[in-house]
Amino acid sequence: MKKNLIVFGTRPEAIKMAPLVQEFKKHSDIFETRVCVTAQHREMLDQVLDFFNIQPEYDLNLMKANQNLYSLTADIIIGLKEVLEDFKPDYVYVHGDTTTTMAASLASFYSGAKICHVEAGLRTNFKRTPFPEEMNRQLTGRIADYHFAPTEASKENLLKENIASETILVTGNTVIDALIDSSKRVEDIYNLEIENLKKIVKKDVKTILVTGHRRENHGDGFIRICEALREIALINQDVEIIYPVHLNPNVKRPVYEILSGIDNIKLIEPLAYPAFVWLMDKSYLIITDSGGVQEEAPSLGKPVLVMRESTERPEAVVAGTVILVGTNKELIVNEANKLLNDEDKYTRMSVLHNPYGDGKACERIVNYISNLE
Ligand code: UD1
Ligand code: UDP
Repeated sequence: MKKNLIVFGTRPEAIKMAPLVQEFKKHSDIFETRVCVTAQHREMLDQVLDFFNIQPEYDLNLMKANQNLYSLTADIIIGLKEVLEDFKPDYVYVHGDTTTTMAASLASFYSGAKICHVEAGLRTNFKRTPFPEEMNRQLTGRIADYHFAPTEASKENLLKENIASETILVTGNTVIDALIDSSKRVEDIYNLEIENLKKIVKKDVKTILVTGHRRENHGDGFIRICEALREIALINQDVEIIYPVHLNPNVKRPVYEILSGIDNIKLIEPLAYPAFVWLMDKSYLIITDSGGVQEEAPSLGKPVLVMRESTERPEAVVAGTVILVGTNKELIVNEANKLLNDEDKYTRMSVLHNPYGDGKACERIVNYISNLE
């Protein structure tokens, strides 16, 4: 039996690792698979665990209100020591670019386990953008033994850093596995959040879906983002903006201060994954700084304005379904107005497009690990 430990801590990691947990659990004849959550996020993580019906064997329960990177990093390394010593995994799976990813990789390296990096090789090559994710991802790439790259471009990035090609597998992004699975399941279940959303998403009104949380946008960046959203709402009274606000206090504070009380802006709690996917599908346009949303939206044919200066996910920008607008107020307002009023531009950007995967990423990862000596 090969022993697998799958480690994650935040909402996006959970969404993207859930299908891998399920895939490994199908092969319990050759793998003993356990899940460890750091709970870098709490409520937003639990929403995902509930939906995918995952009961972690280990829960470090680390989240603190308004936590800082220093203590979070240290707590993850210390917390994982016990888990690694208890289970003694052969393989540890980490995902993407969070502090959980980087700290768990380092702890696993100390333990002697082989480190498998899911969603490897994305790069902006700007050390501080996104912050601290670009460095988290590069450091994890250095430590990892196996690299599951979502696209050919991410594989190329790894090859340029002299990562041995036989340790890299292009898999597609597991987010598409999750998206396909949840789109199917959501049709069969009664979902209270979706029923509530149906009351605010009106058929004849264009819905703009907004999310945002990046650390490098905290402060002035978020103020400009909120001012842009207020202007879009005031100019376009016939449009409804729905914004599930991230629980980070550095996001919640300016968002509620600047955007409360505007009739056509609805500030709501973070949605559980199936309701968020439903809302993406019903939206006319998405404005976000999220990594995961940039990957999901093109496969739903939704144009996206990305509130970042650079992206480690260039595929959809090249395909023309994503435009980078940074946190420049004028640019956000102008691009949103163009998409609301210029039908040709909107149609060109809303072509269904799926550069990020075919829903079989987890199957490929499990096959690859099964075939290792
Ligand atoms: C983290 C990740 C980021 C990822 C994002 C996804 C790092 C450094 N950042 O950013 O890469 O894109 O998650 O959303 O790894 N909070 C709650 N409840 C929750 C979640 C967060 O109250 O369920 C609040 C807490 O006060 C917490 C704060 O948000 O201290 C910040 O959480 P943290 O994980 O440090 O940063 P994020 O901005 O969420
Ligand atoms: N998401 C969600 N509920 C929300 C907002 C987003 O389930 O209210 C999902 C979204 O579908 C995507 C992921 O969360 O899969 C993105 O998470 P986030 O933007 O927090 O992090 P990032 O992807 O930027 O790391």
